[in-house]
Amino acid sequence: MIDIIATTKVREHYAATGLTGLIRTALTTIAPEAETLTVTQLAPLDQFHLRGIVATEELARAAGLEPSSRVLDLGCGIGGPARCIADTFNCTVTGVDLSPGFVEAATYLTTRCALSDRVTFQTGDALHLPFEDGTFDAVFLQHVAMNIEDRPALYAEVRRVLARGGRFVTYDLVLGDGDVVYPVPWARDASTSFLLTANETRAALEHAAFQPVLWRDDSQTVIDWFKTTLAGSPPSGPGSGLSLGVVMGAEFQAMTANLARNIRENRLGVLSAVLTRGI
Ligand SMILES: C[S@@+](CC[C@H](N)C(=O)[O-])C[C@H]1O[C@@H](n2cnc3c(N)ncnc32)[C@H](O)[C@@H]1O
Repeated sequence: MIDIIATTKVREHYAATGLTGLIRTALTTIAPEAETLTVTQLAPLDQFHLRGIVATEELARAAGLEPSSRVLDLGCGIGGPARCIADTFNCTVTGVDLSPGFVEAATYLTTRCALSDRVTFQTGDALHLPFEDGTFDAVFLQHVAMNIEDRPALYAEVRRVLARGGRFVTYDLVLGDGDVVYPVPWARDASTSFLLTANETRAALEHAAFQPVLWRDDSQTVIDWFKTTLAGSPPSGPGSGLSLGVVMGAEFQAMTANLARNIRENRLGVLSAVLTRGI
């Protein structure tokens, strides 16, 4: 019951009514509808996590993906990471997200990038995945875990769909010291925010029989990234209107400012990890 209420509230947070239309309009600033877009062109819009496409590429390399890899992107948002992974490693990616509006936008953007033969999306809940055991060689979970209350169930489900020897990439915010200042990009208040400390996260992952091959505190890297990103000159020129603000609306700027503050003040930390699935 708690699960259902929390999941409904998270779905409301990412309700994306008319999003595909908004994106279509925003994209007219960079290319006509018939023109194929690149993954890099879309990166300011579709990588819904700290450090954007650079973080996705880094973690995908650390996971050792190959053209034969079958990848699941869990909580895929509007599909930027899934397209980036498929394009860079020439592999197939399935994206699953709670938000039907995000899945519709992800599918539209993938058509615009001519990647629909390798990247597909479906609406679904990370806690109840519609896949057979051992379906995937890698599972990505970028900036999603903090929206999921039942962390043991989440990690058990990831483990179930991952093949033996597969890799689990998780990139998320973790609790530091002091109260989190809301709103932040994943939650308007604490009711949809289920953060753990780095140590609690590790214990939950190990309980699900995951072993880290990479375990890294990226908080300072993110603080440095914010300094250069937020201190940039006002955008101008083609594509300058492309940002996550199109996806999350006017409040996104305040959410991002709070996120930066939370990390700077050590209320939150940033954790990157790649793990193997134990037997
Ligand atoms: C901050 S966004 C990150 C999107 C994407 N991973 C990225 O990095 O671009 C969080 C996403 O997780 C999704 N999400 C949250 N809880 C979920 C759940 N239980 N099952 C599937 N998706 C979920 C949200 O709908 C949202 O798209």
